[in-house]
Amino acid sequence: MSDQVVKVVVRKRQEQGDGVVVLDLGDPTGLPLPAFEAGAHVDIHLPGGLVRQYSLCGNPAERSVYRLGVLKDPASRGGSVAVHEHLLEGQQVQISVPRNLFALAAKARHSILIGGGIGITPMVAMAYALQARDSQFELHYCGRSRSRSAFLDELQQADFAACVHTHFDDEAPAQKLDLPAVLGAPGADVHVYVCGPAGFMDWVIAQALEAGHADDHIHREYFQVEVDNSGAGFEVVASRSGKSVQVAEGQTILEALAGVGIKIDISCEQGVCGTCLCDVLEGEPDHRDVYLTDDEKAANDQILVCCSRAKSKKLVLDI
Ligand code: FES
Repeated sequence: MSDQVVKVVVRKRQEQGDGVVVLDLGDPTGLPLPAFEAGAHVDIHLPGGLVRQYSLCGNPAERSVYRLGVLKDPASRGGSVAVHEHLLEGQQVQISVPRNLFALAAKARHSILIGGGIGITPMVAMAYALQARDSQFELHYCGRSRSRSAFLDELQQADFAACVHTHFDDEAPAQKLDLPAVLGAPGADVHVYVCGPAGFMDWVIAQALEAGHADDHIHREYFQVEVDNSGAGFEVVASRSGKSVQVAEGQTILEALAGVGIKIDISCEQGVCGTCLCDVLEGEPDHRDVYLTDDEKAANDQILVCCSRAKSKKLVLDI
């Protein structure tokens, strides 16, 4: 996670849809905030030492406010509940500077943005940025129902409203997402962006690959990923110190390293953000993250130590 912390205050809080809180965060003294690119997120430091990532969903050209949309998920590990309970108007909070792991491709001729549920948040910022670039795009917003969905008013009133297509499970079949038709014309200058629940993303990504889109033209932002720590134990060697540690079943490499005094920067602890990425010098990782691409995983020279394990009996890491 970034060490640089920004103090902000909740300027405005709105409940939208079903269980979504939309927060506008501003500098306490009214100064402009650090610039951000579409697709960026910030780490929010919450009570109890929780640090969680949320996409910035405002207009990147607007420097006075960072807008976030947070769905309350009682089944989550406490982050969204803490946001809903503590981030009231006037509340000060610390965040990281924006980081972008889901950037728009620089030279796309056409961008297909697909957001499922609260996965619409980075797509809103992308739509503003693409419109500002005068770049061709379409935004598809999928949800269970109109009444449960946030950001609809903003999307319908935006200058790019004609590029927005909504698809709700409980409305007429004709408006449902026809994914093969949407993904139908792959090309070197066509890029697909998807964010939403894991099952939704897996479906979109599989369809996009099947339609012929290149893997590196399918940009993805996961959230809410279950970490699976099952599997036999193995040894991890930290090459720079020479320290060796056994990772037990049910334990993460991160936890095992912490036990011998080796600290790795972390943020999501779910294999989503890439903060804990380490180089692998020896051994075969068992990749359980959603951050690395299939090609990067196949190369077996990097590992996310918050969630991944080893297929070999020993891993040597460049730490
Ligand atoms: S801390 Fe986010 S991927 Fe490991």
